[in-house]
Amino acid sequence: MNYGYFDDKNREYVITNPRTPVKWINYIGTLKFGGFVDHTGGALICKGDPSLNRITKYIQQMPSSDFKGETLYLRLKQGENYKLFSPFFVPTLDRYDLYQCHVGPGYNRIISEFYGIRTECTIFVPTDDVREIREIKIINKTDEEIEIDAISVVEYTHFDAIKQFNNADWVPQTMQSRCIREERGLATLIQYAFMRRETDVNFFTSNHPISSFESDRKRFLGDNEYGTWSNPLSLQKKELDSYEAHRGDNIGALLHHLGSLKTGEEKSLITQLGQEQSFEKARSGIDKYRDPDAVKKAFTELNDFWEEFLSGIQVETPDLEMNSMLNIHNPHQCFITKNWSRYLSYYQPGIGTRGIGVRDSCQDVMGVISHIPEESKELLKKMMMIQRTNGSAMHGFNPLTMEGSKGEIGDWSDRPQYYGDDHLWIVLAVTTYLKETGDMEFLEEIIPYYDEKKGDQQLESGTVKDHMKRALNFTRNDKGKHGLPHLGFADWNDTVNLRTGAESLFNTHLYGKDLLEMIELCRYLGDEAGIKLYQTEHNELKDIFNRTSWDGEWYVRYFDSDGTPMGSQKNKNGKIYINAQSWPLISGMATPENAKKALDSLNRLLNTSRGIKVSWPGFDGYDRNKGGITTFPPGTKENGGIFLHTNPWVVIAETIMGNGERAYEYYSQINPVYKNDIIEEYECEPYVYAQNILSDEHPQFGLGRNSWLTGTASWMYQAGIGFILGIRPDYSGLKIDPCIPGKWNGFKVTRKYKNAIYNIEVKNPDNKNKGVYRLEVDGRGISGNIAPIFKDGKIHIITAIIE
Ligand code: GLC
Repeated sequence: MNYGYFDDKNREYVITNPRTPVKWINYIGTLKFGGFVDHTGGALICKGDPSLNRITKYIQQMPSSDFKGETLYLRLKQGENYKLFSPFFVPTLDRYDLYQCHVGPGYNRIISEFYGIRTECTIFVPTDDVREIREIKIINKTDEEIEIDAISVVEYTHFDAIKQFNNADWVPQTMQSRCIREERGLATLIQYAFMRRETDVNFFTSNHPISSFESDRKRFLGDNEYGTWSNPLSLQKKELDSYEAHRGDNIGALLHHLGSLKTGEEKSLITQLGQEQSFEKARSGIDKYRDPDAVKKAFTELNDFWEEFLSGIQVETPDLEMNSMLNIHNPHQCFITKNWSRYLSYYQPGIGTRGIGVRDSCQDVMGVISHIPEESKELLKKMMMIQRTNGSAMHGFNPLTMEGSKGEIGDWSDRPQYYGDDHLWIVLAVTTYLKETGDMEFLEEIIPYYDEKKGDQQLESGTVKDHMKRALNFTRNDKGKHGLPHLGFADWNDTVNLRTGAESLFNTHLYGKDLLEMIELCRYLGDEAGIKLYQTEHNELKDIFNRTSWDGEWYVRYFDSDGTPMGSQKNKNGKIYINAQSWPLISGMATPENAKKALDSLNRLLNTSRGIKVSWPGFDGYDRNKGGITTFPPGTKENGGIFLHTNPWVVIAETIMGNGERAYEYYSQINPVYKNDIIEEYECEPYVYAQNILSDEHPQFGLGRNSWLTGTASWMYQAGIGFILGIRPDYSGLKIDPCIPGKWNGFKVTRKYKNAIYNIEVKNPDNKNKGVYRLEVDGRGISGNIAPIFKDGKIHIITAIIE
């Protein structure tokens, strides 16, 4: 069974059946103002911080049929009563003749037909503005003239998301609404928590006269709330009570009499939901967007933004599903993860959040540096601002206040009080930025360090280069019994929390990869001492790694505090871990022979038809000494589940091995586009990657969860563009180093790079996997596989032949 289809031409996925297995969402706006909107018109909207300034009440855990945040009702007079329905299906659940939710970058457009009435509603936040717009068109497709009323509804939450749920007296006592009547029958409902009356006022308004309104949920639903969202009793009366709530559960309901519509006639309506200091401050913006032309212009600007963003890299391979992801949905998801981190999704309620993770954002940024280098740089700076003077980093931070957070460590006072990997991601992200932009001046930019107990003291600062060096120094001096980097509270795998003294092979390889990057950078800068320093450290680490971590058929993943290995044949659970096999290739530390064996073992023991498992076998019972991983049943999340973030690293490792067949197989088997046909099993949106899929150790093998906000997006994009297609920036130019399936005869890529456009065609006449034999740049052959830097704003034709 399908719930929709891909429309690549219009850059949309079109949902055609609203009864999806779970709500499917899309993002509108940015962290400045926005949130997500689901395919039935429900929306979770915030301004600034989702946990501290939330506008609509959207409770993910409630059933899908439930009202969530916002909706629209239409009603027709039928005898003494009204026939009431929602063109969004929820919450009235009427039978529809047509239902489509067009999911596009930055907007959802719901088109439906119920009882001969067609509704088209486009939901978006204008670029650079702070309001949610709903542009609604209603068309009479019946044979008769009909009278229609449209009732737009929003349910508010207390701005402090957690208080909404943990205080049911104070919160309702403080919530208030007022109606501001304007000229020509127009009106704006304002709503606020009492303490913010003078500072943060929510407004809900439209561009059509309203005859009445409601702001109290109890009155709207009627019968002491024994009326329901699917049939609010107040909507059986000609007019609402126009009651201004002094307390209670506040809503905004605007009743518009659209009048009579002849057959084929269309009426339209625009609503706005936003927040400003006061109605007076909001007024000019409200007026502006009451004009349909302004809304049209804003929507065009939104599309222009996406046209420009996506045109940064476009591909044409023989695999249409891969094209769909790499050209549209994957870069879109990368933009969303860069903006929203792990803040707010259908699975991440954004309540009491730990802010933005350094580790997460460093990786998210790597997925968008080529498209939005300036914004990426700003985020990189923030990540360095919460690095401690000793080189390690706080685990997360609030991007609005720049307050650092220690992450989950709080519950585990007996464990190391830092994460072993956070700071190391900064080095990788910065070098990726440098290769893309060539902005070497960034290395000299001065950024303060973070001090948890700073008080009035002057903060210590250092250049970006200094931040990178301190990060590396921290790990250089933080090693355990075997001479390998300590785990800290956790490494990339947040859930393995071993006792103090444990060593992590992931940290070893991330550090190793950083060292490789530093060697390359120093080479470019002509810094001989740096090259020597980092090369020596890499050699030594590589030597220790190869002496200690080979387990016979694969590499181990951790050494516990007493020196026993984890991820070894000797273990009963967690015998083999994915990252321990892929990362030795990324860090350049594996020997060719062991690398091959390790990747073959991974293929044999961890691969499934739905993706590669993070480890095997899962732990079957809580064990405090191992940590969070043992809190999940086997086959879920980090405990032997298919934790997708790890899969692109295997794709990359296979391309390093030159194994184009396997790289492509691993890439394709988790391409969400293919889930469209097995959606009853998978359940999540087929247009984005999910964080995890239940593995074959679980009875519900194949079920996806936690879609959207996952590092999978950035790494699948990097794996696809940078390693399978092999187009990746280097300090001296754009490298063309594909590793593709032999059956491909070639592919094309258009990529913007340093103010020039590279039109690349790779030909594969002999159906090989790898090895660029000949490179032609604008018709002239050059040696090597790096297309030069042009910076001339022109189009350049690059042809590469694999032979
Ligand atoms: C989640 C976290 C990420 C972590 C991963 C594995 O996705 O956001 O930081 O690396 O889980 O534990």
